[in-house]
Amino acid sequence: MSDVNFSLAGKVVLVTGASSGFGQRFAPVLARQGAKLVVAARRRDPLLALEEEIESDGGRCLAVTMDVADRHSIVEAYNQAEAAFGCVDVVVNNAGIGLSNPVLGITEEEWDKVLDTNLKGAFLVAQEGARRMNEQGKHGSIINIASVLGLRVTSYLAHYSASKAGLIQLTKAMALELADYGIRVNAICPGYILTDINRDYFETDGGKRMIQRIPQKQLGEIDDLLGPLLLLASDASKYMTGSVISVDGGHAVSKL
Ligand SMILES: NC(=O)c1ccc[n+]([C@@H]2O[C@H](COP(=O)([O-])OP(=O)(O)OC[C@H]3O[C@@H](n4cnc5c(N)ncnc54)[C@H](OP(=O)(O)O)[C@@H]3O)[C@@H](O)[C@H]2O)c1
Repeated sequence: MSDVNFSLAGKVVLVTGASSGFGQRFAPVLARQGAKLVVAARRRDPLLALEEEIESDGGRCLAVTMDVADRHSIVEAYNQAEAAFGCVDVVVNNAGIGLSNPVLGITEEEWDKVLDTNLKGAFLVAQEGARRMNEQGKHGSIINIASVLGLRVTSYLAHYSASKAGLIQLTKAMALELADYGIRVNAICPGYILTDINRDYFETDGGKRMIQRIPQKQLGEIDDLLGPLLLLASDASKYMTGSVISVDGGHAVSKL
């Protein structure tokens, strides 16, 4: 038997943004630790495929449609989750979008879209989860997927950086208040993680120069996030709240 317990047996875990990228990888890994998974996003087909994958691997999973910018759809998704599995114990606030545009060109519509998804959306999902945990006496865990761009800045992503910096501060503010109810709130700040969406960019000269500015001089992989994710989801982190964990090859501490 291990000295550290990363088991999620008996826990219900909600992962937002599970229709692609990080969320699609996180869900089966969490299920293999014994959690019952609720996978959420706007696109239903990839969620149903994920549900099928997890169930055929012997796990339990429910696909729910959710737009994190819409409170009604969040409440409805939590209702479905509770009807299937009971109260959500762990919320992985992973849904997010990044739109690239220079400061002088960002439209109000783009600003609202990024902030409504990455910051307001994360708040609404966390708040609804925390209210339900509190009503049902659950000592749950909320994990916000922020970004190195919540700590540092780069060009053309001012709205994204502002949303992620806000999410880091929200993590700390919620951790402070929700400690009274035994609910923990922590953040993971991924750096540049290689995915299908950015693979081509990192082959370009600009992309290669970017990699050289990372102290470890390499990109991360989605699986580099799994250790911190399981730590924060499980009781192994029961004395952690308000923590902000960078997983970025040292990018947040690169020299100026
Ligand atoms: N990839 C990186 O290098 C990197 C680095 C740092 C941080 N992050 C953060 O990590 C998270 C996941 O990123 P990713 O790379 O996996 O991105 P991705 O592949 O584009 O996935 C984003 C997910 O968010 C969902 N989503 C977007 N808007 C939504 C909305 N209004 N309501 C519900 N779901 C919504 C999308 O699903 P639908 O379109 O189906 O709704 C999708 O499942 C994001 O918060 C991102 O900011 C990524």
